[in-house]
Amino acid sequence: MSALSGRRIVLVVTGGVAAYKSAYLARLLVEGEAEVRVVITEEATNFIGPTTFAAITGQPVVRSLFSSGQVSPHTELGRWAEAIIVAPATAATLARLALGISEEAASATLLASTAPVLLAPAMHTEMWENPATQRNLALLRQDGRSVVGPETGALAGGDEGIGRMAEPEVIVEALIDLLAGPLSGLTVLVTAGGTREAIDPVRFLGNRSSGKMGHAIADEAARRGARVHLVTAADRRSHPAVDLIRVESAQEMAEAVDKLDVDIAIMAAAVADFRPKDPRGSKLSRSEGPPDIALEPTPDILSAVLSRSKRPFVVGFSAETSNISRAVEKALRKGSDLTVSNDVDDPGAGFGVDTNRVSIISAEGDVEEWPLLSKDEVAARLWDLIQSRLNP
Ligand code: PMT
Repeated sequence: MSALSGRRIVLVVTGGVAAYKSAYLARLLVEGEAEVRVVITEEATNFIGPTTFAAITGQPVVRSLFSSGQVSPHTELGRWAEAIIVAPATAATLARLALGISEEAASATLLASTAPVLLAPAMHTEMWENPATQRNLALLRQDGRSVVGPETGALAGGDEGIGRMAEPEVIVEALIDLLAGPLSGLTVLVTAGGTREAIDPVRFLGNRSSGKMGHAIADEAARRGARVHLVTAADRRSHPAVDLIRVESAQEMAEAVDKLDVDIAIMAAAVADFRPKDPRGSKLSRSEGPPDIALEPTPDILSAVLSRSKRPFVVGFSAETSNISRAVEKALRKGSDLTVSNDVDDPGAGFGVDTNRVSIISAEGDVEEWPLLSKDEVAARLWDLIQSRLNP
């Protein structure tokens, strides 16, 4: 998986001769497994056609606010984007962006988005050095826009000097830096959902876990730049950058987890502790009367991760229906670096709902109670805490 895998990138191509290099840039992004959408200005079509970008990205190219077939292409793309690259960014484009002018699809998309923006200016030296351009750039930097290049070299019409657009490879590196979050460079495992243990081909022993808690944790890790493997028994979607590994039983989850070498493991799945010892090969019939189902223990996935020779930072979960002392006793016995305990009898906490009220138990047994929060907020706070533990 590359650093751009699954990232949603809008490439805005404006009217300079360097627009031809943006086709190669689009290709590098696609090769990096990014999802790429292109917006092209009318001026840019003097240098390169939208068909080229459509062929490279496999997506229609937006040329106008009114002719794309979408009701509101600029807001739709602006919200969809995780990052926007403007390459080439002409002097006129920089001026429009600095002033917030948005009379066509490219500048309107930029104004309608809160995603980080990477500008790759390209123009003649005189235009680059003009105080108006430098003033606009200073404004754009103040607004938090990032700039890559320009470089010195051959320019249009045989001229030489500063103003040449940064090479596509350099722009991709700058984009990776722009997208990098506090968890960049770390590999994370999250388990989620409730396992199903077969009784026969149609029936199973299961539990009420929806996977919401674990998926929220995996999605937040991806947003913070981690490489994330989510081993889940839940039928839910996840952030496009997450490596989603679907499993059904505790055994399948154990085997999937076993293959992953990670820096941090968050075990939010509700894993069955016992499974039918001899699942039937064919459907049990009512006429046979109630079956005797002998059970056997499932693999303890958390303990296996904790006993690895290259042990990751481990966060266990604890679903309790009694008071916190049982969760503390379990946390100390298991030996996770942190344990997230939820009282699943508490309305609004635990299984199925969108909120959770958790207590965080340290490796020493200290308890910190968090208020009722959305599962997304629990995930964000948990990552803040893990980050502070890893970088005190
Ligand atoms: O999925 P949701 O609907 O959003 O609900 C979230 C949740 C309530 C499932 C979640 O917050 C939670 O509490 N997950 C852990 C549930 C659980 O199985 O707890 P436990 O106390 O039985 O297990 C303790 C720990 O051991 C857990 O980290 C569990 O993943 C792990 N375990 C358990 C059994 C087993 N065979 N292998 C394991 O790794």
